Amino acid sequence: SSRKNKKMISKNLVEALNGQIEMEAYASFLYLSMSAWCESKGLKGCASFMRRQSTEENVHMLKLVDYMLDVDTCPTVPQIKQPPVDFESIVTLMNDVYIHEKKVTKSIHQLVELCNKEDDFATFNFLQWYVIEQREEESLMRDILDKIKLIGDGPQSLYYIDKELEAINALQNTGVQ
Ligand code: FEO
Repeated sequence: SSRKNKKMISKNLVEALNGQIEMEAYASFLYLSMSAWCESKGLKGCASFMRRQSTEENVHMLKLVDYMLDVDTCPTVPQIKQPPVDFESIVTLMNDVYIHEKKVTKSIHQLVELCNKEDDFATFNFLQWYVIEQREEESLMRDILDKIKLIGDGPQSLYYIDKELEAINALQNTGVQ
């Protein structure tokens, strides 16, 4: 499509979208760090699950980059702060993921609110994908935490938690979840 038909987005919105790019990129790095930690503890199922989440966050970031380019705005590729490298346990790690996803959801909702305020219907529409994605991610993480609570967090539980995450990951690979 021709350039002159593209609608510019407001300065506020450009800033907010750049902020969201940073958030998704940080999530990708955080989850990669978590994946590495899991792998180093022999939790291969958890490691694969977190690696997958990391890749998904990278896709979320790229979708924002592409959208900004599509509306003729150059996105800012951010500096990413160092994510934690050590985690107390797999239970606290998964809980950290859930907390982080809730933060992302809040940020997406604030972006949607800003679109409303600025009558930016195109960006509002674009962000609906993220609204759905966040609802699904929060629900998935809640399910995982519920399962971990049922299994318990003693040393013997790690094997079963890892099996559970492996199964969830396999389901996601088939596109069932
Ligand atoms: Fe892209 Fe899980 O937030």
